[in-house]
Amino acid sequence: MEILHNEVIDAIVKRRTVRDFSNEQITDDELFTVLTAAYWAPSGRNSQPCHVRVLQDAEALKRLNVDFKNLVGWGTPAYTRWDTNPVYHNAPTLIFIFAEGDSCMEAGLMAENIAVAAESLSIGSCIIGSLGALMNHDQGKIWKNNLDIDENYKFLIAIAIGCKSKTTPVKERNPFSDHFKIIKSLAI
Ligand SMILES: Cc1cc2nc3c(=O)[nH]c(=O)nc-3n(C[C@H](O)[C@H](O)[C@H](O)COP(=O)(O)O)c2cc1C
Repeated sequence: MEILHNEVIDAIVKRRTVRDFSNEQITDDELFTVLTAAYWAPSGRNSQPCHVRVLQDAEALKRLNVDFKNLVGWGTPAYTRWDTNPVYHNAPTLIFIFAEGDSCMEAGLMAENIAVAAESLSIGSCIIGSLGALMNHDQGKIWKNNLDIDENYKFLIAIAIGCKSKTTPVKERNPFSDHFKIIKSLAI
């Protein structure tokens, strides 16, 4: 079998997590395009449970990182595993996805749409789950208030986006056949 190429497939296959961003901000049109990709993500029974906030305030992002690391620990292995970067990897734009209830699936679909749309525009992205340690903690309530999000909404995922400053090494995948099987005929 061979992979067929088009712009969508190539963006999906070429996307890599980026953790080195330049200071340059993305344009408002780039942001709106990426958010539109999230807006059109599917949801169960079209319930549209997610609420998205975008933070582009560099000082506030630094403060978020301080609050996060003060809570989880500056040397906690789980949060320094990737590198010594701040939790948002110094990206100029951080997109948060919240929902009333546990709509992980819908948030994940939005996050991947964002990451793939960003890649299609040559914008780097990093999906960030670890921020949940702060955002879903009591101490995260102030951030929910700051972001104009109901305190009872759950933080589900964040996506840092910005101009790539370095190419990221490929994170290899296990062999395809370890995880995928195509069954064309079943003897039942
Ligand atoms: C649900 C989820 C949570 C993640 N959380 C983090 C995170 O908190 N910080 C981080 O640097 N990367 C995070 N990542 C990025 C993964 O580490 C990355 O996708 C994985 O290593 C595969 O690399 P690739 O995206 O370049 O293929 C997360 C990815 C997913 C899907």
